[in-house]
Amino acid sequence: MDTFDAISKRTSVRAYKPDAVKREMLERIVDAARRAPTARRVEPWEFVVVQNKETLQKLGTIANTGSFIKDAAACIAVFCKETKYYLEDGCAATENILLASAGLGLGACWVAGEKKPYAKEVSELLGAPSDFRLVSLIPIGWPAEEVKQAKSRRLQDVIHWEKF
Ligand SMILES: Cc1cc2nc3c(=O)[nH]c(=O)nc-3n(C[C@H](O)[C@H](O)[C@H](O)COP(=O)(O)O)c2cc1C
Repeated sequence: MDTFDAISKRTSVRAYKPDAVKREMLERIVDAARRAPTARRVEPWEFVVVQNKETLQKLGTIANTGSFIKDAAACIAVFCKETKYYLEDGCAATENILLASAGLGLGACWVAGEKKPYAKEVSELLGAPSDFRLVSLIPIGWPAEEVKQAKSRRLQDVIHWEKF
């Protein structure tokens, strides 16, 4: 799929079919994540791919703004070692995961990480070392719903030429 098609197609999908997602697809998605830009070439990221149903269920319960994680075929947790630009790096990797998923016809959603009170519990559940921060959780599955991209601000509302 063309880059611009994947960007236009990407929406937050929160309902998934019960079908599995192939391991090779998940590997391709994580490979896209690790290719994200990274300040000072630090590459502070680690990606935990969860497919175990019981763990997905637990993640959906702990991360209360992502209860739909329990229905996903997989969930990728993005952790970054706490460096100066870890959040920017982790967010860039997260967006690559979303775009790669959309490019493969999969549905995914960015679920908040470290700013949520559940971050510590998720980190403990997934065995992340204490100097790593949870940047995001991304449930992935075959979409059970068609979500149209709905942006309230149009190009002409946000674009400024030369000055703000
Ligand atoms: C930093 C960040 C945190 C988010 N956290 C959640 C979340 O915890 N739960 C959720 O359902 N959606 C979450 N979202 C998804 C947004 O709700 C979604 O991107 C927004 O409604 C726009 O819709 P779209 O992604 O379909 O364009 C998050 C998005 C971002 C960028």
